[in-house]
Amino acid sequence: MDHPNILVSQHDGICSIEISRREKKNAITSAMYRALSVALGHAREQSHVKVVLIRGQDDLFTSGNDLSDFLQRKASDPSAAIPFLHLLSAFEKPLVAAVAGNAVGIGTTLLLHCDLVYAADNALFQLPFVNLALCPEAGSSLLLPRLAGHQRAAELLLLGEPFSADTACAAGIVNRVVAPEQLMETALAAAKKLAAQPAQSLAVTKALMKRPPERSAIEAMDEEVIFFADLVAAPAAKEIFSAFLEKRIPNPEKIHGAQP
Ligand code: COA
Repeated sequence: MDHPNILVSQHDGICSIEISRREKKNAITSAMYRALSVALGHAREQSHVKVVLIRGQDDLFTSGNDLSDFLQRKASDPSAAIPFLHLLSAFEKPLVAAVAGNAVGIGTTLLLHCDLVYAADNALFQLPFVNLALCPEAGSSLLLPRLAGHQRAAELLLLGEPFSADTACAAGIVNRVVAPEQLMETALAAAKKLAAQPAQSLAVTKALMKRPPERSAIEAMDEEVIFFADLVAAPAAKEIFSAFLEKRIPNPEKIHGAQP
């Protein structure tokens, strides 16, 4: 389902999903959430897509949920954001985000489900749920305290004030802060590197990292061992080991399989 405000393009194994509704500061409507879900669903199914890049423009990410939609919403109305967030949270392939300008509400909380997040130094984050008489969404009440610690998360969620890219970086929401003109190339470079990694190893590693943290280190190790045993015997790993021992560059076809 194409949507004029959700621009999807694919190149070099990267599916780029751009939020583009500048006249409303990229506010996300229900129809846009549905288009985001469709785009993610396709990216998940298409084997040539290795990485998804979520982005706005050099000066704007998103002002969050469309407040007109919120205004119309009844308690019993289903939220189109939920299927999108479920897909995002369970997404097996790496998710990279490039954030500039305003990143409000879900513009910040969706980042908690991404793997690599790059922000321009003009980025301005905000979690104004309490300010809007709402409460946190997208799992942020669990994920943010886990990431940033209770007090830092409480400051961001309870006061709901805008915060800078440096603060987001210190809280663990953002990997790196760059100049606005370097944002997209930085995010794309990371996405390209990920796309060149062995896809199955990426998926297994991400799945292991996403396991509930309540388990013990022993349980984690036992789980890792099961995947490790399969991966260590698979052709991709064998090719990389062989190449190292033979002092040559690995053959990408043996790592990624022959491209159609
Ligand atoms: N939902 C619907 N419309 C929005 C919107 C949103 N989340 N954010 C911005 N807009 C609209 C404005 O109503 C305005 O529309 P208009 O030109 O038809 O009047 C237009 O986008 C420009 O917004 P404006 O507020 O003038 O831009 P700004 O640069 O001064 O401020 C923000 C940018 C993001 C700080 C500000 O728009 C804002 O706070 N938006 C609401 C954020 C929010 O609460 N989101 C929900 C989180 S749960």
